Amino acid sequence: MTVTRRRMMGAAALGALSFAAPQGALAQEVVKIGLIAPMTGPQAAAGRQMVAGARLFMALNGDKAAGKKIELIVKDDTGVADVTRRLAQELIVNDKVAAITGFGLTPLALAVGPVITQAKVPAVIMVAGTGMIVGTSPYFVRVSFTLPQQTMPIADWAYDNGVRTAVSLVSDYGPGLDAQNAFKARFEAKGGKVLEQLRAPLAAPEFAPFLQRAKDQKPDALMLFVPAPQAGALMRQVLDRGLVEAGVKLIGPGDALDDEQLNAMGDGVLGVITSYGYSAAHDSPENKRFVEEFKKQNANLRPNIIGLGGWDGMQAIYMALEKNKGDTDGAKLIEAFKGLSWTSPRGPVSIDPETRDIVQNIYIRKVERKDGELYNVEFATYPNQKNPK
Ligand code: PHB
Repeated sequence: MTVTRRRMMGAAALGALSFAAPQGALAQEVVKIGLIAPMTGPQAAAGRQMVAGARLFMALNGDKAAGKKIELIVKDDTGVADVTRRLAQELIVNDKVAAITGFGLTPLALAVGPVITQAKVPAVIMVAGTGMIVGTSPYFVRVSFTLPQQTMPIADWAYDNGVRTAVSLVSDYGPGLDAQNAFKARFEAKGGKVLEQLRAPLAAPEFAPFLQRAKDQKPDALMLFVPAPQAGALMRQVLDRGLVEAGVKLIGPGDALDDEQLNAMGDGVLGVITSYGYSAAHDSPENKRFVEEFKKQNANLRPNIIGLGGWDGMQAIYMALEKNKGDTDGAKLIEAFKGLSWTSPRGPVSIDPETRDIVQNIYIRKVERKDGELYNVEFATYPNQKNPK
């Protein structure tokens, strides 16, 4: 009885197999991409931007690459690394995605490294910015930025414009430490002095005691970094403490002046100068269209560097698939990302074939009021910046 049933099941399975051949061919015409982002929880603002950017790219460029239909599967990791890792596994094993993408925070990206290395599936980082992440798996590629890349130019610019002493205050995790180290190295190489390096916890930060400590040192400048979704909370406390009135210049990579929240910060941030790869005010036809369409599709939400990461991540995935004529073999696909270049809404970008990290212009920007809104207005460019070694 058991034997018969087994035989029957075997026959059924065989039948299913032979029947599956034409279906398999059809199924191959769909390429699945898994996007893992924090859609709920304290990092939800990052997920909203990332997914909006990715969907906008598909809405304006079609849902086909290399003649195959692209299916985006969005998963919410709630900003918890163990969840990111589990979702990556499920997307690879159950959904058979050709690539995964997203990653709103450094620890969320790091969590998938071992999974993608073992499965040989590329992961395209749309946000996470700690320098070392991409080196932890040969299957990582990054379209966002690195903190050293974004921070070095402001250290230069500040020194060249008379700043001689600084205190830095950052979130106490990978990108914050990267920003702090890069700033100190460059600023002190030029002859400046970092008086103190302060670190606030990433979760539920209370910035006031650190800001008071920074103010007491009377530095020429305070260098700030928090992940972009925390920018509003940080700047409210910075402005409340009266650092600007005390003559302390606020500087840093642009995360603390996040474009999505800039208008809500108010006129207290007018004149603040930062360095960054993207501003919603970037003056190009590509960016004008990106910002207009993004707002149209998202209840007037202004895109920030995270929304841009969503867009550029899909752009890179489409281009890599086109380059490989639709072949989704992971080892071949990761090769295809190397050396890609395109015109992003932020300006010209490319993927360094050696490091798989993005090469981009970093702009020096100043907060100004334009057409009744606050913008980070770019006024100088450090072209083609790599993640410094
Ligand atoms: C990160 O966690 O790597 C990260 C997140 C948001 C930023 C920058 C870095 O704005």
